[in-house]
Amino acid sequence: MAEDLCSFTKDTFNLKSPKKSPLVLRMLVLVFVMVCGVYICSVCVKQISARTKSEFLNVQVIERPCPVPNIEPWEIPYVHYPKPKTYSRAECACNPVRYFAILSMQRSGSGWFETLLNNHTNISSNGEVFSVKVRRSNASTIVETLDKIYNLDWFSSASKNECTAAVGLKWMLNQGLLQHQEEIAEYFRTRGVSAIFLFRRNQLRRMISVLANSYDRNAKLLNGTHKSHVHSPHEAEILARYKPLINATLLIRDMKQVEDTQTKALEYFKSTRHIIVYYEDILKNHTVRHTIVTGKLKLADIQEFLKVPQRDLRSRQVKIHRGPLANYVENWDDVQKALKGTQYESFLHGEYRK
Ligand SMILES: *[C@@H]1O[C@H](CO)[C@@H](O)[C@H](O)[C@H]1NC(C)=O
Ligand SMILES: *[C@@H]1O[C@H](CO)[C@@H](O)[C@H](O)[C@H]1NC(C)=O
Ligand SMILES: *[C@@H]1O[C@H](CO)[C@@H](O)[C@H](O)[C@H]1NC(C)=O
Ligand SMILES: *[C@@H]1O[C@H](CO)[C@@H](O)[C@H](O)[C@H]1NC(C)=O
Ligand SMILES: *[C@@H]1O[C@H](CO)[C@@H](O)[C@H](O)[C@H]1NC(C)=O
Ligand SMILES: *[C@@H]1O[C@H](CO)[C@@H](O)[C@H](O)[C@H]1NC(C)=O
Repeated sequence: MAEDLCSFTKDTFNLKSPKKSPLVLRMLVLVFVMVCGVYICSVCVKQISARTKSEFLNVQVIERPCPVPNIEPWEIPYVHYPKPKTYSRAECACNPVRYFAILSMQRSGSGWFETLLNNHTNISSNGEVFSVKVRRSNASTIVETLDKIYNLDWFSSASKNECTAAVGLKWMLNQGLLQHQEEIAEYFRTRGVSAIFLFRRNQLRRMISVLANSYDRNAKLLNGTHKSHVHSPHEAEILARYKPLINATLLIRDMKQVEDTQTKALEYFKSTRHIIVYYEDILKNHTVRHTIVTGKLKLADIQEFLKVPQRDLRSRQVKIHRGPLANYVENWDDVQKALKGTQYESFLHGEYRK
């Protein structure tokens, strides 16, 4: 069709150029025709090359899918090749991606844990996506949000380059996760998502952290800004000065409740591929590799679980309550009395350093 157009324009101009016109006018017409012809031909060439290119790509997609990675058969459902809508994964299009979700509770070290994971070039953990209520209003908004994250179309400060090999989010048990457990477990099953349960062994420490954090929400101890995580020992020291008062009567009941919630979550997602990790175990020595002997999983085990290359991972976050618990509770005597002789007694002495 474009060729027809070329000849048609030429004919028109030939017809229109009168034989008796002066040389200048003839030259002008000739130049105009030439320019016009070159332009039209360049358009033709562009169209043709674009068509062949897309045909070539189509052929490539159909006939040459990504090479089958060297994995065990059971792993196949967990390996994905997302095609983001908003950009191209370019040379990483055939780098397999694993989907994960960190399932945790507030003040269990998940913020710190996530900064460690995000220190890996190939891991992108997008934060507490479901802290925003509309995203968890119902199962369909949840699925929509998850689809976007796992398709690598979610943008956050954790978004990495195209070579992401593991993508996920941090999800608190009270953020619609237990409420919509059936649909979510089904999603995890059909989409091949793995779960990392991150819990804290010492619930008393967690409770103090919850109380201190909720106090700071109003008090804003750091120059009038509320901070849940800090990056310097100085800031940590200022936040740790506040000593919450713990209702000793409700203490045991509250800790039981937390345990029940965790048990429920494990039950609901027991058929999801998962691991259970404890904050304290990672904190103690996160450089050590596998520990089948003690059963305490470390960061190296998590990298193995996500099938990313092993890296030494760093976080800039500093722990807020670093010393013995007695320093951080207003009514320590009451708390001690309440827990003595119960299954939670060991929480009183949970050792701590860095
Ligand atoms: C990981 O942490 C180290 C030390 O803080 C930093 O130099 C490096 O850039 C981080 N890497 C990534 C990918 O964030
Ligand atoms: C789910 O919630 C969204 C946002 O609140 C709403 O627009 C949508 O209609 C709801 N869908 C269903 C199926 O309830
Ligand atoms: C990790 O990322 C780097 C570059 O960012 C890339 O070269 C490498 O292939 C990625 N590794 C995996 C396992 O995807
Ligand atoms: C508060 O602000 C002052 C002045 O900007 C600064 O010197 C100080 O370090 C800040 N303190 C904290 C705890 O951030
Ligand atoms: C602890 O909580 C219970 C029940 O909410 C309340 O009755 C009691 O006064 C509280 N005790 C203290 C010391 O605040
Ligand atoms: C951590 O574990 C490694 C390897 O087992 C060991 O060499 C190192 O001393 C440990 N670090 C601490 C602080 O315990």
